[in-house]
Amino acid sequence: MENIRQAVERAKGRPQQHGGVGFEPSLQPNRRSFGDTNEPKERAEEIELDLAHLHSKRIVAYDGKDLHSRHFDMLRTEVLRSMDLKGWKTLAVTSPTPNCGKTLTAINLALSMARQPERQVLLADLDLRKAQVAGSLGLKCREGVLGVIEGRIDVDRAIICARAGGSRLEVLPTASTSDSSDLVGSSAMKNLLHDITGHGPSRIIILDLPPLLTGHDVITILPQVDCVLLVAAVGTSTISEIEECNKHLQTTDVVRFVLNKVPESEAGYAYC
Ligand SMILES: Nc1ncnc2c1ncn2[C@@H]1O[C@H](COP(=O)(O)OP(=O)(O)OP(=O)(O)O)[C@@H](O)[C@H]1O
Ligand SMILES: [Mg+2]
Repeated sequence: MENIRQAVERAKGRPQQHGGVGFEPSLQPNRRSFGDTNEPKERAEEIELDLAHLHSKRIVAYDGKDLHSRHFDMLRTEVLRSMDLKGWKTLAVTSPTPNCGKTLTAINLALSMARQPERQVLLADLDLRKAQVAGSLGLKCREGVLGVIEGRIDVDRAIICARAGGSRLEVLPTASTSDSSDLVGSSAMKNLLHDITGHGPSRIIILDLPPLLTGHDVITILPQVDCVLLVAAVGTSTISEIEECNKHLQTTDVVRFVLNKVPESEAGYAYC
């Protein structure tokens, strides 16, 4: 906690940069097949993501040569080292309050991991109040998570296979709903999480979650994840909010803390 406190204190009051904080990733065409085990019988066609759209959303990690990708690649390396060591497969990305950069971090981290040929990566949008993953990637969400938990579609059919640059990943998008709390706590959601985590040892699942302190959704999901990446932002997050998160995360492994929107000159301590 002390290193987190120091990072936030050092960055406090400095102007935000528009680069990013400390992560990287990317995608590649036809490099490997999805689902080494339990491969779904029917798999949707692979969709090529629009790189100009991704760039406009600060999504860069499909391109390992992009300078901003290096932060996500460093984060990827550290997160995967910890996850591999413990045999963890499911990573939840959350933050104290809104607008800290969870979705951007989750997407870039997923793309960075997906550049590694041996990794199979599924990015799932479980922020049912404020779905952002499909829009950020330029994808249309047809049924997605809501379709699965409301019984209209099988999870394998809701997953979109996407490709961008050197990265190839699976995306489980969602539409937003006002019913979020009820749905997140439902047995259908538990089954969905069980299904997507049961695809064999090579699949990493990244969950883009809502903020931890603005509702019960994250606390409800936490027992079903292996570890958490906590994203805070300079100029948005306070020490007391991070301490409050820490209390909620007492029984959950926090694999890394990311301090986002850090000035370029301070990027060296962007995560710990
Ligand atoms: N390092 C950064 N530098 C500049 N802008 C950033 C950075 N990180 C995120 N942003 C911008 O901040 C805004 C919020 O980012 P994002 O949507 O990823 O946050 P979030 O935590 O998912 O928000 P919400 O709680 O609303 O889901 C976006 O416009 C995003 O482009
Ligand atoms: Mg978000």
